[in-house]
Amino acid sequence: MVEKVSVIGLGKLGASMVAAIASRGFEVIGVDIHQKTVDAVNEGREPVQETDLKKYLSENKKRIRATLSHEEAVLNSDISFVIVPTPSDEKGSFSLQYAAWAFKEIGKALAKKDGYHIVILTSTVLPGATRFGLLPILEKESGKKCGKGFGLCYSPEFIALGSIIRDFLNPDFTLCGEFDERCGKELEYFYSKVMFGNPPCKRMSLENAELTKISVNTFVTTKITFANMLADLCERIPGGDVDVVTDALGTDSRIGRKYLTGALGYGGPCFPRDNVALSYMARTLNSCADIAETTDRVNRAMAETITNKLRPVIKQGQTVAILGLSYKPSSHVVEESQGIYLAKTLSEAGARVVAYDPLANESAEAELKGKIVILDSAEKCLEQADVVLITTADTEFKQLKSDDFVADGKKTIVYDFWRILKDKLSNKENISYHPIGCSDNNELQANFLTELWGKETNNLSKAESL
Ligand SMILES: NC(=O)c1ccc[n+]([C@@H]2O[C@H](COP(=O)([O-])OP(=O)(O)OC[C@H]3O[C@@H](n4cnc5c(N)ncnc54)[C@H](O)[C@@H]3O)[C@@H](O)[C@H]2O)c1
Repeated sequence: MVEKVSVIGLGKLGASMVAAIASRGFEVIGVDIHQKTVDAVNEGREPVQETDLKKYLSENKKRIRATLSHEEAVLNSDISFVIVPTPSDEKGSFSLQYAAWAFKEIGKALAKKDGYHIVILTSTVLPGATRFGLLPILEKESGKKCGKGFGLCYSPEFIALGSIIRDFLNPDFTLCGEFDERCGKELEYFYSKVMFGNPPCKRMSLENAELTKISVNTFVTTKITFANMLADLCERIPGGDVDVVTDALGTDSRIGRKYLTGALGYGGPCFPRDNVALSYMARTLNSCADIAETTDRVNRAMAETITNKLRPVIKQGQTVAILGLSYKPSSHVVEESQGIYLAKTLSEAGARVVAYDPLANESAEAELKGKIVILDSAEKCLEQADVVLITTADTEFKQLKSDDFVADGKKTIVYDFWRILKDKLSNKENISYHPIGCSDNNELQANFLTELWGKETNNLSKAESL
């Protein structure tokens, strides 16, 4: 039975897992290759920024310690979760470089251990990587056979940055790819002690679990992209309103409401790379992942499409303000963020771009390297803006008032991708408000449809007269 736990890799997910597992009464040893990360965890400080991490680490300090030694961790625990980076490589696959190094160190420690030990790979990998890429390293370094001296599972978590601890402790289900029944059973039992609400544990082979993990993210991004397609269609039909359509659509239990809000594309460290990796895997296996490839292509084209829409405005040398540079509200992460992509494409198209984000200004500055002007408040951006793009549904932006947009009585064009200011900015003097996913020229669209369907009914009356 698992009593002591080790976690190899104390980054965003690993450090959060240490804190969450310790909060459920287990003793946890964390391992990292960086001394300052180890020191931070030992002192009850958070090594990375994540919601509630500091609180959980300090509250459970007596059950947590960290070390640079994989051996110390393996010899003093029953189970080791490996949660090191698996960065995308130039082929679109996930590199096993860090995981291989961690497995080598764990294997060496297993050689010195008498009892049974379970190794759990939590990092995101593609089908076959655990059994055919990493398991041989453990067997070679330990001199033991998997299933006898040690067990091996692939068990990723389904968490989002900003809510890792909450998501980890309250999952919809746990996923357990198992080398054999013994280690799978033990992991299922361990999760039943750690997770709240007794979530179902889906146990399966290592390869099926690897495919399930990557499928979750690619399915969700397909859903997001589908809603974005509906938003574009709604802009082209009289009275079109994507929220009305997706609200009804999501009520169908086969579809569901989550991630079905037509707006901007998805971003962040996981979603975009998972579609690319699934496409790579499918091509390599002589299968095809057209859906994943199309989702990725459509999502990556969004900033360019929006920039093209704004070209007439840019030509007049006007200033565009972007409110929201992180990939989602209340985040400092700008990786693959649509706000950043828009800032780049608009400035490359010749616009003067100013921008603001409540948390991500600093990381955006590093990413954009002076290409645009980053200001320290939304109000300062609005003072200078002819066109405003609201790219995240941040609470701070929701609080803006119509007066904030019309400084000095000038006329401002506002594109609101999440429709957060629809009630405040619609039909306001000097504001040309465009809620994305809603039609804003009913007459023009009605004329178009009259012509389209009029032709059909004219043909029908001709047919009747024959
Ligand atoms: N962050 C997320 O939202 C998220 C969500 C789901 C899955 N994942 C997956 O989890 C994995 C880790 O993600 P992360 O965001 O926590 O990464 P991270 O870069 O924040 O942290 C990784 C940590 O591992 C340490 N490390 C590297 N090699 C090591 C080794 N051999 N031994 C011990 N420590 C080592 C690094 O120093 C770093 O502290 C990736 O595969 C990622 O795809 C992340």
